[in-house]
Amino acid sequence: MGFYGDQVLPRFINMVCSTKTVRPLRERVCAGLHGRVVEIGFGSGLNIPFYPAGVTSVAAVEPADTGWKLAGKRVSGSPFPIDRTGLDGQALPLADHSCDAALSTYTLCTIPDVTAALAEIRRVLKPGAAFHFLDHGLAPDEPVRRGQHRLDPLQQRLFGGCHLTRPIADLVTEAGFTITDVDIFYEKGAPKIWGAASLGMAVSS
Ligand SMILES: C[S@@+](CC[C@H](N)C(=O)[O-])C[C@H]1O[C@@H](n2cnc3c(N)ncnc32)[C@H](O)[C@@H]1O
Repeated sequence: MGFYGDQVLPRFINMVCSTKTVRPLRERVCAGLHGRVVEIGFGSGLNIPFYPAGVTSVAAVEPADTGWKLAGKRVSGSPFPIDRTGLDGQALPLADHSCDAALSTYTLCTIPDVTAALAEIRRVLKPGAAFHFLDHGLAPDEPVRRGQHRLDPLQQRLFGGCHLTRPIADLVTEAGFTITDVDIFYEKGAPKIWGAASLGMAVSS
């Protein structure tokens, strides 16, 4: 990945993803998580403060060592165990039907093979268990979409493979989940070209 991807980008993500405006969204997406949770693209652990009391352990999946290091204090101060269980959301080292819930925030935009990652999440979830997601993606408005398509190649180069144009809710549905709740909106304080946020919950169908 090189110095930029290994050292600079995880610190930058830690900074831009921890703003005051994102925190209420993290709180919403984490509500209702319980038991053993797998979180893909764990990053620097910015969701830890929002995990509800019913969570008993977290299997953290994160390729970036720097992200995991930045998570250090939050991980050690957590009331439940958090293990770095894997490095790649596209191939989870977890048994079938071994998790009570799954979480992904701002990661479905980045994982190279998002379809493989969603299939893995379905595989490791217990039947009827919920996948909670928060991500940015394809905007609902055509003029914004045009700008997103233009900027997408540069965005991917600058931000570790992050896509602006993934239709997040559609991808979740196409992977075989049934979305039980989703809110699609432009994030306060973010430029529209960043896309619409999709905050939702889905169960394996
Ligand atoms: C924009 S960051 C979001 C981090 C964190 N989820 C958050 O909300 O702050 C995207 C994360 O996806 C991770 N990532 C990239 N490729 C991945 C993969 N194949 N499997 C799991 N995570 C991946 C990156 O290392 C990064 O931590």
